[in-house]
Amino acid sequence: MKIADQGDPSSKFLTITPGCPLIGESGVAGCPAIPGDKSLSHRAILLAAMAQGESVVEHLLVSGVTAAMLNAMTSLKVPWQLDGERLTLQGVGIGKGRQIAAPSPVELDCGNSATTLRLLAGALAAWAQPASLTGSPGLQRRPMNRIVDPLQQMGVEIRSQHGCAPLSLGASPLPLQGRVHRLKVASAQVKSCLLLAALSGDGPSTIYEPGPSRDHSERLLGSMGVRVQTRQENTRLSDCQAEPSRDYITEIWPAPPAGLRPLHLRLPGDFSAAAFLVVAALVTPGSRRRVNAVGLNPTRTGLLDALRGMGAQIEILNQDEQQGEPVGDLLIQHSALHATEVSGDLVVRMIDEFPAFAAAAAYAQGTSLVRDAQELRLKESDRISALCSELRKLGVSASERQDGFEIEGGKPPHGGTVTAHGDHRLAMSLALCGLAAQAPVVVEQAEIIAESFPDFPRFLSALGAQVSIQPNL
Ligand code: S3P
Repeated sequence: MKIADQGDPSSKFLTITPGCPLIGESGVAGCPAIPGDKSLSHRAILLAAMAQGESVVEHLLVSGVTAAMLNAMTSLKVPWQLDGERLTLQGVGIGKGRQIAAPSPVELDCGNSATTLRLLAGALAAWAQPASLTGSPGLQRRPMNRIVDPLQQMGVEIRSQHGCAPLSLGASPLPLQGRVHRLKVASAQVKSCLLLAALSGDGPSTIYEPGPSRDHSERLLGSMGVRVQTRQENTRLSDCQAEPSRDYITEIWPAPPAGLRPLHLRLPGDFSAAAFLVVAALVTPGSRRRVNAVGLNPTRTGLLDALRGMGAQIEILNQDEQQGEPVGDLLIQHSALHATEVSGDLVVRMIDEFPAFAAAAAYAQGTSLVRDAQELRLKESDRISALCSELRKLGVSASERQDGFEIEGGKPPHGGTVTAHGDHRLAMSLALCGLAAQAPVVVEQAEIIAESFPDFPRFLSALGAQVSIQPNL
């Protein structure tokens, strides 16, 4: 089974005209169910494929980037079926006993999805499955040495094209070598790639990271019977450091002899999708909105801390744990925001939320500052440069720093036409600027939103904004 591209090629221009907030009968407007978590959806698909037996995953994100992962499963001849958002998948196991019937090498196109490419590289290494991995021109610009070098140190036969995709993997001899890896940048994609490869290791592997990247893989692997431990250590103070920095350490052992237990999961709503609605409600005068069943893993919720530091009124209700992941409802009230500063570990805990944060900063009184965030230059777009240049087109005062940006907020954006730079989150962030602008905001290349949140325009119109989608202007 193949999944079609989720992007509607005709929906090119998204126009947001400021409107009235929608308040429900109790004074609180509800919100349609947030789509399933993107990071967990990728991991659930791939780990289910590595498991022994049938997995069932409910509330999977069905979007452009998860279509890339599912299509890779088809190319690998891993049987799966999607019924709405319910995925059933037959695992093929790992190690020498795996049952992969894919051609050798298998060609895998990861579209725009770096998570698909980087996690697949780790799984293919654990499977010792020869493959070529490539993707869109945008994906081919993203750095891959960060996975290629440590995989090679584990004995994986893998090569890149000058540090980028396409990557080619050979039939590496199993078991791979368990290693200690020290990552220069905190990255859940790199960590997860190495954790997956380490499942076919000859002993434990340890990964040191300089920040708290998301820990979904660790939680899922633990629930599948893999021994995995996490801890933090203070690093030594150098003369110029005022505070000690920390290492975040993950240790993993090879898969148990019986293999990985299959998954039976319902995924929480994606915090990174909800983030745009949280900011939308905060900046739309009169709004009071409830967003239910959102994933609240603390490695993902840095934006809530940043927004509360700006004076945002956000309450968490019904906090619970859903199969190893914290979940809850968010109650958001329109708030007069003031500027803030974001740096250090908080950057890692909100790495995908800077486009949403920038929209909030544009409405906040004062100058907000982001530091230690040079990693943003290596996302779907150079998010520092693209965010600043597009916000300026809307009349927002935004300036680049090498490792972040500054936004002087408080004056409503004057409206205008902006472009998404092939970046789904940039497109949604710019759309938010239309909610309280003086004139409509038109976002070009809006079809890219379908990569992670195909229903975003519908959610936005539920807030009271007038939203229209046109093939051309
Ligand atoms: C992701 C990790 C992050 C994030 C991406 C999804 C994941 O990337 O930006 O959208 O699912 O592991 P990095 O690991 O490169 O920071």
